[in-house]
Amino acid sequence: MNLTELNRIATAMVAPGKGILAADESSGTIKKRFDAIGVESTEANRRDYREMLFRSNEAMSQYISGVILYDETIWQDAKDGTPLIKLIEQSGAIPGIKVDEGTQALPMCPGELVTVGLDKLAERLKKYYERGARFAKWRAVIDIGSGIPSMTAISVNAHALARYAALCQAAQIVPIVEPEVLMDGDHDIDRCYDVTQRVLNKTFQELRVQRVALEGMVLKPNMAISGKKSPKQAGVEEVAEKTVRLLKACVPAAVPGIAFLSGGQSDEEATAHLNAMHKLGPLPWGLTFSYGRALQAAPQKAWSGKAENVAAGQRAFSHRARMNGLASKGEWQSSLEKKAA
Ligand code: 13P
Repeated sequence: MNLTELNRIATAMVAPGKGILAADESSGTIKKRFDAIGVESTEANRRDYREMLFRSNEAMSQYISGVILYDETIWQDAKDGTPLIKLIEQSGAIPGIKVDEGTQALPMCPGELVTVGLDKLAERLKKYYERGARFAKWRAVIDIGSGIPSMTAISVNAHALARYAALCQAAQIVPIVEPEVLMDGDHDIDRCYDVTQRVLNKTFQELRVQRVALEGMVLKPNMAISGKKSPKQAGVEEVAEKTVRLLKACVPAAVPGIAFLSGGQSDEEATAHLNAMHKLGPLPWGLTFSYGRALQAAPQKAWSGKAENVAAGQRAFSHRARMNGLASKGEWQSSLEKKAA
């Protein structure tokens, strides 16, 4: 393992002004997104859609540091025969790959999940590295509800995250460690804070036990935020203040960077929260976005599967990428959104 090189990549992934495009929707998830815009989820449509994103020159060269791909995409070619991964490299962004294989029910823990995909992971990582991937992603899912999460769910998921991270570093790939505490419930922000604190502490304990080099990884957490169904919705300042406090308490400064998931926040909320956190700086790590929905909802709608809408889709993507790029430096203002509209 070359830790200097892992650290160089991890640092580039969270460079100020840039963040990560999570375009690694599994076939099931992208079908849901396409259903919402009335597009059939065929291999060709998935290719055309992602080619549109990766050919968005303004966004890709100025605001996107890396792209997380799904297995299908990393082996796919653009319409003209150029591998899609080459389009990403040519833009200056770093290609990455989702390597978990989704979730399964966790035995003895009703309603809880464990992320799978460790079997043969070492061999798969080798192939992805040869194809050009320089970082990977593994997402653990922790739900908040009555009596959950259990310590069992937190432990087994943290253990799997650390197993994955160690295998990545041995394969010279930077692991994005993503323990996602869902915002689906009716819990308030303080409950989210407590659960996320337990999850992050256990995750870093496992990372240390399994000898993962913190300098060569990126953390992808949820923010401390109210559950979507909570009657008590915390405002932007509270989310920013509590999230920064939580991360400072749990994430060692040796970690080069933190890149948030959007998790179901609206586009503008996800941007405003990141921006407000930077107003509380200086921070001990790079802090940016690794959004899926909050970067792609607008371009998906603008594109709607029509070739004549590609330019509009690219404009929508570039706008969200630029807004989040500014937020990653604390330089975003809501008036910039209105101007664009
Ligand atoms: P969202 O930003 O849509 O939550 O997706 C990010 C991601 O990669 C989840 O694993």
